[in-house]
Amino acid sequence: MASEIELIDVTKRYAGSSEPAVDSVSLTVPAGEIVVFVGPSGCGKTTTMRMINRLIEPTSGRITIGGTDTRSLDPDELRRGIGYAIQQAGLFPHLTVAQNVGTVPGLLGWGKARVADRVDEMLDLVGLDPADFRDRHPRQLSGGQQQRVGVARALAADPPVLLMDEPFGAVDPITRGNLQDELMRLQAELRKTIVFVTHDFDEAVKLGDRIAVLGTRSRVLQYDTPEAVLANPADDTVAGFVGAGASLKQLTLRRVREVELSQAVTASVGDEPAEVGRRLAGSGHEYALLLDARNRPVSWVHARDPRQPRPVGDSVSLQSTLQDALEAILTEGGAAVVTGARGEYVGVVEMDAVIGTVRKLRDEHAAEVGT
Ligand SMILES: Nc1ncnc2c1ncn2[C@@H]1O[C@H](COP(=O)(O)OP(=O)(O)O)[C@@H](O)[C@H]1O
Ligand SMILES: [Mg+2]
Repeated sequence: MASEIELIDVTKRYAGSSEPAVDSVSLTVPAGEIVVFVGPSGCGKTTTMRMINRLIEPTSGRITIGGTDTRSLDPDELRRGIGYAIQQAGLFPHLTVAQNVGTVPGLLGWGKARVADRVDEMLDLVGLDPADFRDRHPRQLSGGQQQRVGVARALAADPPVLLMDEPFGAVDPITRGNLQDELMRLQAELRKTIVFVTHDFDEAVKLGDRIAVLGTRSRVLQYDTPEAVLANPADDTVAGFVGAGASLKQLTLRRVREVELSQAVTASVGDEPAEVGRRLAGSGHEYALLLDARNRPVSWVHARDPRQPRPVGDSVSLQSTLQDALEAILTEGGAAVVTGARGEYVGVVEMDAVIGTVRKLRDEHAAEVGT
């Protein structure tokens, strides 16, 4: 169950400002899609988003959700039907994870047992073990874990609409990539109507079914699919945002599952170095990948130095973008390990596979523009 959101000529003038912060914006967010508002800092993204759940009241114009004018609803009631996730997660520091996630269901009058079940379900959904996390306080969590709790809280009352304002802005790039992958996995199941705000164009291209590129005062410079924006930027400002190397940027549109994976020579952590050496001999590979008892990658060993394993760094998933894979390949040196849902070894993605894809994209692009 999702709802279309429509902004019709929406303007916001803050008291005391000569220019409106948001000037006459109109756009439709289709039901069940992720629309990303992307634009430079200060262009009015947050203001536009917060008018949807009436944390900020428009000066003029109209916003409808599922055809209902939001002004006809009580603001508190409206907000209980709209999940809201922000940068730094915005968790209540004095409440436990469970109390944070259960806030809106509690306000909606759900019984204790139903709230408790829902909290555990949501923590599971965002990849946090409920038994381990439900009684912790926000300060006992990493930044990435806090963001996961923030997303769990936004989803807890199963709202048809989700607003996310730079929700992954405060975490390191690897965690950020993982959280983005998780959001896409969740959305494939949940099909909410999601408005996602970011100033990071790569994030917009990765997450958006459509992206709205915003200029000053939230003027909509282009509103289209990421593919269309990359291929045909509407004007010089958008082109500047897309930047050089558009075919390289298209790597954020391609997933690891689309390229052919290679297989490493594998062995178990406990295997004798001599045995590992025998497997490598004549395989054409210099390195073997050691797996633990649950088939999860642990370390690389070199044929010449089988007693000196080097820990596996960042692995990627089948849902990761080739951009993420490329970064992992560069840090790992030559190949990135691909793992499945439970962290198990699936294969490796090698530099050649990524280069092959870049080449193909470049040729396709050249054919399209006729150069
Ligand atoms: N409460 C406020 N009062 C006055 N001006 C504001 C207020 N909030 C934001 N602004 C101004 O409105 C413009 C848009 O801000 P904002 O919506 O936060 O942009 P973004 O989220 O794209 O960075 C900025 O110029 C900002 O200074
Ligand atoms: Mg903002």
